[in-house]
Amino acid sequence: MQSLITIAIDGHSSTGKSTAAKQLAHELGYLYVDTGAMYRAVSFFALSENLINQGQLDQSVLERRLKDIAITFERNPETGNNEVCLNGKNIESEIRTLEVSNVVSIVASNSAVRAKLVEQQQKMGAAKGVVMDGRDIGTVVFPDAELKVFMTAAADVRAKRRFEELTNSGQIVDYADVLENVIERDRIDSTREDSPLIQADDALLLDTSYMDRKQQFDTLLHWANQELQ
Ligand code: DC
Repeated sequence: MQSLITIAIDGHSSTGKSTAAKQLAHELGYLYVDTGAMYRAVSFFALSENLINQGQLDQSVLERRLKDIAITFERNPETGNNEVCLNGKNIESEIRTLEVSNVVSIVASNSAVRAKLVEQQQKMGAAKGVVMDGRDIGTVVFPDAELKVFMTAAADVRAKRRFEELTNSGQIVDYADVLENVIERDRIDSTREDSPLIQADDALLLDTSYMDRKQQFDTLLHWANQELQ
């Protein structure tokens, strides 16, 4: 039997990470974990509890309330995708809004939030046979992952992709706001003190600016197969 490996996929937002990672996991029969959804779920909790006012997060209250947050995934039988739940309630569509995107980097900068989620992610991937996507998977969560990929693309290309996603899901958004969010999230994610978004030394770089989804997936599968040989 082929041995199982850990695949860490990090990179900037809206580079196609989640779609390609999910497809790769499906192809290999691996578990797929979208860690961004976990940070989005905590952000949704913080918004619901009014812990964010005028862009300011009440860090100490959120830290105290972390014990009240349980994040799980449940499989949608129609799509086959894992969807995120907060305290047992499926909030997959609630976390994909611009409102959540606008605060998630602030929430993800909190070290207590990161410690809690990283611990859970390490448990979820402990048995290997996992494709995990995020910002710090190859650097912090699984520094010994057999395959690490860092995905990027030009900011305007990513904003266009995100704009289409949001519009297709029925949300009314302004392209300029989406572009601003993409750039601002890059800035906060890359400059935060705890686990900033950086390419691990041993990660393979995948620039998806001029690649369609099939080319992205084919590249990932090729790299995974090389590792599995
Ligand atoms: O992948 P995404 O765009 O859904 O992630 C949402 C945010 O969560 C992103 O702006 C940064 C944060 N994040 C993180 O800090 N670490 C991770 N492992 C995953 C996401």
